[in-house]
Amino acid sequence: MQARFSSDAKTEHFKRKEEVDLPDAISDAFSYAIQEALFYVGRTAPNPPVGCVILDRQGKILTVAAHHQAGQLHAEALALQQCRKLGCWDKIYDVVVTLEPCNHTGLTPPCSEALLKTPVHRIWIGVNDPNPNVYGAGNERIKQDGKAVFLLKDLPGKKAQYWYEKCNDLIAPFAKFVTERKAWITIKQALNVSGSMIPPKGNKTFTSFTSLYQVHQLRRGTEAIITGPNTIKQDWPSFTVRHVSDHIGKERLLIICSKKDQSLEEIIPFEYFEKARNNNFKILLCANIETLPFLLYEHKVLWGMVEGGPQLLHSFRQKHLWDEWLIFRKQNKGEDQVKLISNHQAFPTRLLLSQSSFANSSKRKKGVLCSLVS
Ligand SMILES: NC(=O)c1ccc[n+]([C@@H]2O[C@H](COP(=O)([O-])OP(=O)(O)OC[C@H]3O[C@@H](n4cnc5c(N)ncnc54)[C@H](OP(=O)(O)O)[C@@H]3O)[C@@H](O)[C@H]2O)c1
Repeated sequence: MQARFSSDAKTEHFKRKEEVDLPDAISDAFSYAIQEALFYVGRTAPNPPVGCVILDRQGKILTVAAHHQAGQLHAEALALQQCRKLGCWDKIYDVVVTLEPCNHTGLTPPCSEALLKTPVHRIWIGVNDPNPNVYGAGNERIKQDGKAVFLLKDLPGKKAQYWYEKCNDLIAPFAKFVTERKAWITIKQALNVSGSMIPPKGNKTFTSFTSLYQVHQLRRGTEAIITGPNTIKQDWPSFTVRHVSDHIGKERLLIICSKKDQSLEEIIPFEYFEKARNNNFKILLCANIETLPFLLYEHKVLWGMVEGGPQLLHSFRQKHLWDEWLIFRKQNKGEDQVKLISNHQAFPTRLLLSQSSFANSSKRKKGVLCSLVS
């Protein structure tokens, strides 16, 4: 006779049996879910990026989905919709999701309830929702219904812990946003061989193409660029996403930091305003950088990147206003040296830079049995 388990007993049973690690199909599914979610980083604010993969009993992927933007379907809801459209609803067995399913009605109905209406047997959850008002509620609701729920943090294997770290990296700016009511700030700093940030006369940059590509990947993931008036006047930077495809119609904030008691119009040349507006930037002035994380929060920015010169970076360092510090240092020969420092255990740039192909839609999961990935 087959043993019958309550959902908690099922989780315990699984932990003992599979102490070794996650099943390969589930581990692979986390990889695809994260890859898919990464594609929408920079578009979901103020919601978190989330990815979801649905598998059949044999571990074959039925569909891959992600949350695209606030007001649209959550990743689980979109994945379920895709299964229904493709006629594979009855095959739903495992659901892998990078963030705990929601249990409340917001702009969309609760995902926990939607999952309970399916034939799903096991739900694998990357991380709990860091929002203190939501934490744990989705898991509990699903468990109440007798489904097996596995949280990566509770699974001892190396693969589970590896994906747990990645899922935390993915939502690190969101976690800060909902717990501290502040945006995540990444400092980007390019140094030449002698350690100077100043480009040679007539140039705007001196880093390698790979470094430029990575900066553009990061810009794509942010909702705001922060800089200073000297950088604007000396480099006339566009701050657009060029080396990778940007989110269609994406608007970003361009924050100009200046302590001068002057209006933006007095600080920045009119022609630059025009250029920035044409590039879909909304320009704001920040006279006191200590208020910046809150200013960004008010504008629903999860993640901002500072692309300023040495004086501005000095102010950020002095006031401890950064979450990650990314340095590209030119070498005499070959690729730039890349160094990433963070004040946190989880940090998104580590994940973004390690998944170099996420912004290239043609490299996302192919050959899925019935994927409708758009
Ligand atoms: N290598 C790189 O990664 C990189 C990146 C960007 C720029 N650059 C280079 O850097 C040079 C310009 O550097 P920079 O540092 O003089 O220019 P900046 O990026 O314009 O930053 C300096 C300005 O920021 C404002 N600021 C500084 N601390 C502040 C605070 N606590 N609150 C509010 N505003 C504050 C000040 O504006 P006010 O004077 O108006 O108060 C200050 O003049 C250029 O040559 C450019 O090419 C290099």
